[in-house]
Amino acid sequence: MRYHVLTLFPEMIDQAANTSILGRAVKNGSIQVETTNIRDYSANKHMRVDDYPYGGGAGMVMEAEPVYRAYEAVKEKIGHKPRTIYLTPQGKVLNQTMVEEFALDEDLVLICGHYEGIDERVLEEVVTDYVSIGDYVLTGGELGAMVMIDAISRFVPGVLSNEESSQFESLQDNLLEYPHYTRPEVWHEKRVPQVLLSGDHKRIEAWRYEQSVLRTTERRPDLLRKSYRVHCAFYGGMESGAGQLNEALSRYGTLLDFNRKKLRKQRYHFERQDLLVVMVDEEILKNPGEPEAFSNVRGKKTPCMAVITTQEEQLGQVEEKLKAMFDKQGFLYKKTYHLPSLEKVDKLNEIALDIRRKMEEIHEK
Ligand code: ADE
Repeated sequence: MRYHVLTLFPEMIDQAANTSILGRAVKNGSIQVETTNIRDYSANKHMRVDDYPYGGGAGMVMEAEPVYRAYEAVKEKIGHKPRTIYLTPQGKVLNQTMVEEFALDEDLVLICGHYEGIDERVLEEVVTDYVSIGDYVLTGGELGAMVMIDAISRFVPGVLSNEESSQFESLQDNLLEYPHYTRPEVWHEKRVPQVLLSGDHKRIEAWRYEQSVLRTTERRPDLLRKSYRVHCAFYGGMESGAGQLNEALSRYGTLLDFNRKKLRKQRYHFERQDLLVVMVDEEILKNPGEPEAFSNVRGKKTPCMAVITTQEEQLGQVEEKLKAMFDKQGFLYKKTYHLPSLEKVDKLNEIALDIRRKMEEIHEK
């Protein structure tokens, strides 16, 4: 990952980017943090970069031309029009899904404003994303840029060691993490919860989930409203893909194998707070002469999406069939993804990210 930061205060970025985990990542080459001083591109012999606002009012506005020239120099180096983020309290408030999506890019340009902001006309020409790091106003975009670089870099291979990287992300499920404990077993007369000493992984996992929900209810009810339980159901030879998708979507997701007759015959009821993702291949078109794969599942306005690995030509037919069936059975069929082959691991992760984005959209409505 290469970050290109356009700023009037490059030393602020350089300081932070060369410290701690980010500093190590820069040293080992996993990330590059390059700063461009906008002042070096001033069109003015006094190196001025700001001017009074048209229409009057307090403060100064950064001129379009120096920002544009700095941007053009960076764009030239990258070789194409890059994803370009302007840090502003008027942007979309940064969240974990956005962070993981930004991490997929190879180059990110971050523009930091100062004073009252930047001349609107250059923003219109170069900015692809407006991002805020929270509903408060900073003196400039640099701290926002560093927050983004820090959060995004956690998803860049080679930045975190095995020990530092958690396989499951807190917030991925819109749930806060459960409480953590380490030795000693008793401290200030407080005992570590007994279940954690039991060695029973199933019980421990159930306890952690319960604690996560409790914590989120108490501390972040707004997050809880956006959380949903993931169920990945598969039919045909999709087991490994469904398992991987399930893990990419949720720490607590369930995996349902609809190749098993018993499962197909059983009634399955899903709620509004659930998300059903079905993964199928061309087997689904073969109609095995018994109740069809998913004919016994029922939803209550439950969002539903499908990942299909068939030939391109069969895609439309499978999609139509699934959509008609799930809508009839009480689901809200939202989206179809085509996965050309199960070997495409990156593609599955991209699909997982898009599903999360889609669920955010649904909850925003
Ligand atoms: N610049 C000023 N305030 C900001 C904020 N909240 N987020 C990102 N950039 C900013």
